[in-house]
Amino acid sequence: MSTGSVIRSQEQHKVFVASSDESRICVVMVGLPARGKSLIAGKAMRYLAWVGIPAKVFNVGTYRRSNTPQPQATFFDPHNEEGERMRRAAAEMAVADMINWFHDDTQKGVVAILDATNSTKDRRKWIYERCRDADIETLFVESICDDEDLIMNNILEVKTDSPDYKGQDPELAALDFRKRIRNYEKVYETIDDHEKQYTYVKLINVGSTVIINQIKDYLSSRLVYYIQNLHIKPRSIWLSRHGESEYNLTGKIGGDSNISERGEAYARALPSLLRKSGVPPNTKIVIWTSTLKRTIQTARHLKAETGFEKLEWKALDELDSGVCDGLTYEEIADKYPEDFKARDDDKYNYRYRGGESYRDVVIRLEPIIMELERSENVIIVTHQAVLRCIYSYFLNVPQEKSPWMEVPLHTLIKLTPRAYGTEEKRFKADIPAVSTWRGKGTSAKHQEFPAENEKGA
Ligand code: ATP
Ligand code: F6P
Repeated sequence: MSTGSVIRSQEQHKVFVASSDESRICVVMVGLPARGKSLIAGKAMRYLAWVGIPAKVFNVGTYRRSNTPQPQATFFDPHNEEGERMRRAAAEMAVADMINWFHDDTQKGVVAILDATNSTKDRRKWIYERCRDADIETLFVESICDDEDLIMNNILEVKTDSPDYKGQDPELAALDFRKRIRNYEKVYETIDDHEKQYTYVKLINVGSTVIINQIKDYLSSRLVYYIQNLHIKPRSIWLSRHGESEYNLTGKIGGDSNISERGEAYARALPSLLRKSGVPPNTKIVIWTSTLKRTIQTARHLKAETGFEKLEWKALDELDSGVCDGLTYEEIADKYPEDFKARDDDKYNYRYRGGESYRDVVIRLEPIIMELERSENVIIVTHQAVLRCIYSYFLNVPQEKSPWMEVPLHTLIKLTPRAYGTEEKRFKADIPAVSTWRGKGTSAKHQEFPAENEKGA
C-alpha cells in the first residue's frame, strides 16, 4: 500500500512532465548585449527545474571564452573576420552540445536555453533549421531595451564583473563593453514580420510591451507566461512560518489549531522584526497568509499595525497529510510503518494516503510563484512544507534536499532578488518555540536540526 502511494505520486510526475506534450524546446535568446538575456535564461531554468522539467542553459559566451577568454570590443566588430570565425565556432559548439544533450537518453532533456545574442536573421534561420532537423521546437525570446540609463546600469551591475574583464579597471571595462554593443548594433536585426513563421515572444523595455507570435504547445505558453511576468524592480520577499501552534507543542501534524502563547508573542513581535530586517521608507508590502487559523492569527498584528493589504490563499495551506492529519510522527510510525519508511526513502515524491506529496504542493504553488514574480514586496506567512517549496524556488534547492531543510519557527527570512541570484538574510525573534524538524529515520517529537557536519539526511 505504502509503495502504491509513492508510485501514484511518480505517475503524477510523469503526467505533469507529459503536460509538455512530450515536446522538446530550444528557447533561443535574442538581443543586444546587456538586455537581461542571461538573467531571463537563468530564471527560466530555475523555474523549470523547480517544476521538475529537465532544462539546461547553453551559454555561447562560455564556449567562446574557451578560445578567446578576454576579447576587446574589436573582436566583436562584424568586419573582423577572425572574430567572426571564432564566434561562429563557439555557436556551433554550443548548438552541437545542445542537440547531443537532447538525444542523450540519460538526460531526458526537455528544454534547452541557447543564451547568445542571436542577433541576425541568418543566425536565427540557421538555429531554427538545425533544431527542426533534430525534431526540436524553437521558441525565440527577444529582449529589446532602449533605456540608455538602464543599459548603463546593467553594464556596471554585471558586465564589469564578467570573466571577460577579470582583473581589469571597471571604468575601462564599461567603456569597452559599450563599444562592444556598438559593434553588435551594426548588424543587429530585430525579429520582424519576415520571421512570422517562428514561435516568438518580444519583450520590450522589461515587459512593458509584449508581442507574442504563434505559441503552439502548452509548455511554451507556460514559459512565455512566466517570462512575461518577470520584472527587475528592486524588492524583497519575506517568508515566515506561523507562530508556534498548539499542535506544534504536542508534535501533531496538520490540523487547524490556534497559535500557542509563545506563538502569539511571535505574532506581536512580527511587525518590529519586519522593520528590523530593513524596509525602505514608504515601502508597501502585501501580506499573504494561508486560509488556516495559525497563519491568519500570526499576521493579525502585522495587518493591524501597518494597514498593509492582506490576502488569504488556499494554495498556501500546509501539505495535506491525509489519513495522518492530527497524528504525531510516532503515531504514524506505529500505525503506518511502511508509509513512514516510504516517506523517509523518498520524501519529495511520497504522497500521504488521501493527502499530498511535496511534488503535489509544488504543482499547486505554481500560480503563487507566477504571482510573486509579478508582485513587488510581499510577506508570506505560511507553513513548514509550503515554505520549503517556495524557498527552494528562489534558492534553487534540489528536490531531494528541499523536504529536509530546516525552517525554524519564530524566524523571518528575507529574500532579495539580485541580478544573478537571491540574497538571503534570517532574523530570529527572541521567543522560544519547539522544533518541528524531524530527521530521517526518527519519529522524535521535538528534534534540533543537526550542525552542518552532523547532517545525515
Ligand atoms: P550579454 O549579451 O552580454 O550576455 P545579457 O543580455 O545576457 O548580456 P544580462 O547579463 O542578463 O544581459 O544582464 C543582466 C542585467 O540586465 C541585470 O542588471 C538585470 O537587472 C537587467 N535586465 C534583466 N531583464 C532585463 C530586460 N528585460 N531588459 C533590460 N535589462 C534587463
Ligand atoms: O509539524 C508542523 C508541520 O507544518 C505539519 O503540519 C506538516 O505535516 C509538517 O510540518 C511538514 O513537515 P514534514 O514534511 O517534515 O513532515
